[in-house]
Amino acid sequence: MKIFIDTADLKEIREACTWGIVDGLTTNPTLIRRAVEALAGEPVEMEAHIEEICRLVPGPVSLEVASLDGATMVEEATILYKRFNPVAENVVIKIPANTSTGEDDRRDFDGLRAISTLSERGIPVNATLVMTPEQALLCAKAGARYVSPFMGRVDDYEAEQLERAEQEVLTVSPGCVLVEQTVRILRTYALPCEVIAASVRHAGHVRAAALSGAQIATIPFAVLLEIVRHPKTAEGIRRFSDDVVTEYAALFSSRPMT
Ligand code: E4P
Repeated sequence: MKIFIDTADLKEIREACTWGIVDGLTTNPTLIRRAVEALAGEPVEMEAHIEEICRLVPGPVSLEVASLDGATMVEEATILYKRFNPVAENVVIKIPANTSTGEDDRRDFDGLRAISTLSERGIPVNATLVMTPEQALLCAKAGARYVSPFMGRVDDYEAEQLERAEQEVLTVSPGCVLVEQTVRILRTYALPCEVIAASVRHAGHVRAAALSGAQIATIPFAVLLEIVRHPKTAEGIRRFSDDVVTEYAALFSSRPMT
């Protein structure tokens, strides 16, 4: 499974890219906002910031449109792609599966329309805010190169729908089921679309995504830290450090053994 990092914070990106595990990156307007806020008042040169991300990351970088109607999303996607893809030839445009806010705004199909138009024009799309395998299927059929099922948000949604007693007996994470079923459906129909397990909140989500055969998981920095840590690994490190005898330590020192 490829690992993408889910952040727009340059410090996190620079650090994670030294670990040899980063295959790509995803951003969204909230992650860009957090990266700006983390700079605590320092001036932000957004174009330079995004260029730097594209240069640092050794794989696809997803940049999201900001508008909600189909035609404007296509315009914004084209601006982002033309401006930033030449930096490292790695830009993918994120388009929501559906940009309706749930009001009667007649935008339910604008996402699919934008995905279809951009894909026909050769601009790779990552369909985002995917909450069901059916939405994923439609986005893949419209030409999305990637679909991003949101594990954590679907877990939140299902928990909100259930009474407390029902939540306590819920043994299967709906977000994990979402990824597993999305992978199965796209594979069954051999659709040329990769699954990015997204909205990853903890190590369990990463394991479930990998077991499901998702091609990619996009993981926040804090979850990568959670994954790499284990109390028994730390305990083992303490023990091994204590057990280094002077004769062994001397192998690593230029000082002669006494
Ligand atoms: C994915 O591409 C998104 O940026 C991200 O995973 C959203 O997750 P959230 O539910 O934590 O906002």
